[in-house]
Amino acid sequence: MIYLTVLWKGWASPEMPEYKTDREVEIMREAGKIVAEVHELMRKHIAPGVTTQELDRIAEDHIRSRGAEPTFKGYRVGGRSYPATICASIDEVVVHGIPSDRKLVEGQIISIDVGTFKNGYCGDGAKTYAVGEIDDEKKRLMEITLKALKAGIDKARVGNYLGDISAAVQQTVEENGFSVVRDMVGHGIGRKMHEDPQVHNFGSPGTGLKLKKGLVLAIEPMVNAGGYRIDFKPDGWTTVTSDGRPSAHFEHSVAITGNGPDILTLV
Ligand code: MF3
Ligand code: CO
Repeated sequence: MIYLTVLWKGWASPEMPEYKTDREVEIMREAGKIVAEVHELMRKHIAPGVTTQELDRIAEDHIRSRGAEPTFKGYRVGGRSYPATICASIDEVVVHGIPSDRKLVEGQIISIDVGTFKNGYCGDGAKTYAVGEIDDEKKRLMEITLKALKAGIDKARVGNYLGDISAAVQQTVEENGFSVVRDMVGHGIGRKMHEDPQVHNFGSPGTGLKLKKGLVLAIEPMVNAGGYRIDFKPDGWTTVTSDGRPSAHFEHSVAITGNGPDILTLV
């Protein structure tokens, strides 16, 4: 996810999506697979007492052992460079939490976001995990965020519009009493981690870019238990809910093909 265009100086305008050939999609699947492998490792290691720095080390070691590179490390936004392989965003942190020596505590939820670069192409995917036993609201927040991602992915079809994806995400979230973050978006992905178009998590069906074969999108709802407003911490990365209530985040990189949506960030 990334800041909206107004804050995001690097984004091309007007929208100039890159359409991938079948061959390019197959190469991207390799980067996507490594993202999914990292998530398998995160699932195994997330537990009370583990630090987010330890998780970062495990992720980076795995990515490099697969001959890939961590895309986030050194990634520059507005003059700042991201210092780690993963984003580790606990409870009220929406996205871009920087790994530290803070230990995970039972009852927290943690979103892990990871990007890979292999053979010239990127993969990007996020999941939210429970640390031990969590309360019912957090459970429901995670379930609904994943459901919203799936509803969005199901609209990623030739002939549909970008707004169909956005609207499906928004509707799933709001009919369950939660809110979608408005100031951050998903994105096209390919040779670069952030390509056009921006993929909003709210909008109207039948509007925006018409979806064509070869478009690859990172669809990534960020869902807050309370209000949609967010704030940025002084480190310039850590993004938190303004009301301090928890937030969840799931993301897949998805190719639009002649046979429907093809999720690339799977093992
Ligand atoms: N998956 C995120 C995105 O889509 C993570 C970016 S973190 C950054 O933008 F540090 F690389 F910016
Ligand atoms: Co992303």
